[in-house]
Amino acid sequence: MSAKFDVVVIPGDGIGLEITSGAVKVLEAAAKKYDLDISYTYKDAGGTAYDKFGVPLPEDTVEAAKSSDGVLFGAVGGDKWDNVKPELRPEKAILGLRKQLGLYANLRPVKVLDALVGYSPLRTDRVKGTDLVIVRELTGGIYFGDRCESEQYNGAERAWDLENYSVPEVERIAELAFRTAKLRRGKVTSVDKANVLATSRLWRRTTAKVAEKYPDVALDNLYVDNCAMQLAVNPKQFDVIVTGNLFGDILSDEAAVISGSIGMLPSASLGDGTGLFEPIHGSAPDIAGKGIANPLGTILSAAMLLRYALREEQAADSVEAAVDKVLADGIRTPDLWKDGFEKVNTDEMAQAVAERV
Ligand code: NAD
Ligand code: IPM
Ligand code: MN
Repeated sequence: MSAKFDVVVIPGDGIGLEITSGAVKVLEAAAKKYDLDISYTYKDAGGTAYDKFGVPLPEDTVEAAKSSDGVLFGAVGGDKWDNVKPELRPEKAILGLRKQLGLYANLRPVKVLDALVGYSPLRTDRVKGTDLVIVRELTGGIYFGDRCESEQYNGAERAWDLENYSVPEVERIAELAFRTAKLRRGKVTSVDKANVLATSRLWRRTTAKVAEKYPDVALDNLYVDNCAMQLAVNPKQFDVIVTGNLFGDILSDEAAVISGSIGMLPSASLGDGTGLFEPIHGSAPDIAGKGIANPLGTILSAAMLLRYALREEQAADSVEAAVDKVLADGIRTPDLWKDGFEKVNTDEMAQAVAERV
């Protein structure tokens, strides 16, 4: 009997539809090969949902996500919705899903594949062999603190966003980082701004305490400004980077491009219930609808869904191997294309991966 799973697909806005449809094609190929019975339920979120229902995250989308085995998410946002009320912005959809599903940990693995070393903006000798994972705290920090869009203060308009972190919030993400490092090269770099921020000083004290439980994992602390520089100078020094919500957001785009294209980077958002899987990039309004977006970050997110949500390790491995193969075979979407390679669109790339699963 084949294993049965219910996956909720949320394409969202911009290139979301193109990239998730590519990833579903690849999931189908893996399902066929490994005899998995996956059903797909499509739900709205983001600007698309706002246009249809007046809200970026319909209750029905949250309920379907919660009761599924895993969520595949595209991207949300776009200039069209830049002037809607802050609480109705498309981005509120992904923030709301993370919060309501309790997805406190976001894993963003950055691997520089041999086939793509030449595409990195950094020199080959600096990036070859880079293999790190950013463990980003995802449901706390300044993203979810109190804020004020506008008030009068000393005769001038001002706005503010508050950052807060509690010890349990830092403990659980640190625990996950140490457990992850134990299965890798045994090194955690905790990134903060403890020379200035109180939340960072609490973060540093708490990670140091958690570290005591993991004597076989080395803990290093870096200030975020230095970490941004170290990523450009010597990305190979990192194994697991653990950091707060805002720093993790910024550092992961920087780390992503080291791998050749932001379109390559997948992520898994995990908590106590259903997991959500999405590429780290956005809705790319500049290329949306052209069918040229790189779907590999979303396809690799689908591989993470197979691994972490459906516990289908072999199927996950086969998707990752197929992505390596496609690149080794010289097939490229325009973001990674150079003379001498085969240029394909989003659909053709997904098809090429599916054939190699
Ligand atoms: P972006 O990641 O959408 O795009 C940045 C640049 O990278 C653009 O030039 C884009 O064309 C390119 N790019 C991104 N993904 C690509 C892919 N798969 N293939 C090829 N090229 C790709 O970031 P942005 O322009 O700052 O944001 C656009 C919108 O997306 C905003 O509304 C933002 O809030 C939103 N956003 C959403 C998410 C999400 O849904 N998780 C993540 C980031 C940004
Ligand atoms: C990401 C995105 C989101 C974030 C936005 C769209 C809310 O940039 O997933 O990296 O800041 O977390
Ligand atoms: Mn981001």
